[in-house]
Amino acid sequence: MTDHYDQLAEFHDLFMVEPWEKLRPSVASVFSDLTSDAVIAEIGAGTGMGTLVLAEESSARVMALEPNQVMRTALMIRVTTVPGLDERVTVVAGSAPDDLGLLKGSIDGFVCAHMLGHLDRPARMKLFAWLDRTLSDEGLGLVTFQLVDPGWDHTTNEVVETRRVGEYEYRAVHHLDTGKDMFSTRYEVWDGDEMLRSVGVEGVWRPVTLDELEAELAGTSLKIRQIADQVAAVGRA
Ligand SMILES: C[S@@+](CC[C@H](N)C(=O)[O-])C[C@H]1O[C@@H](n2cnc3c(N)ncnc32)[C@H](O)[C@@H]1O
Repeated sequence: MTDHYDQLAEFHDLFMVEPWEKLRPSVASVFSDLTSDAVIAEIGAGTGMGTLVLAEESSARVMALEPNQVMRTALMIRVTTVPGLDERVTVVAGSAPDDLGLLKGSIDGFVCAHMLGHLDRPARMKLFAWLDRTLSDEGLGLVTFQLVDPGWDHTTNEVVETRRVGEYEYRAVHHLDTGKDMFSTRYEVWDGDEMLRSVGVEGVWRPVTLDELEAELAGTSLKIRQIADQVAAVGRA
């Protein structure tokens, strides 16, 4: 279920610029050798921030799978307004693992960025089994995994991010210790000292570690190795 992204979508990109700039060197190191006939499956492409980085750092085509309609709308706007993206990116409505069959043929790369926590273990294992069947022998994938956020304030169990857009300041207040496999974030819009509105969003998020991913991949021919902070490459080599 991705219904909570209906509300979250408005605020999603405000706080994803930095994570994607941090991911960019990993994207380049994993995918820069791919040629224009290669295909990268981007699972849970969101609004397409990563799709754009993929297109900039690789010559490959991208099959961008995204289940949530609001996120997909933003993705479609990006793909149709950034020059050249519409020739390389296909937007696919669907979720993993149920709709992976929509991505036909073999793939030469894949990305699961900031999304594996939305899947439970059986769903991740189905996804990895599909990748094992579908990824070319030389293919590589890039996944992000979880550590405790260094910005975590242990007294409040909150991480606060801020971003100014025009006259307004946007704040994301993440509650980290919900005691459940959930994330809980309150987005606030401030005009100076006045809070104009506040939107609370909760959804399923099961933080997944590198060790867990390694164990889940054990039944496949795929191996995982860390290549950067909270980033791993997956492949057969
Ligand atoms: C935090 S966003 C990250 C989006 C993008 N990967 C990025 O890094 O900018 C997580 C995305 O995963 C999508 N998602 C959630 N469950 C999914 C599933 N089962 N299959 C594919 N995508 C899923 C959500 O709709 C959302 O767009």
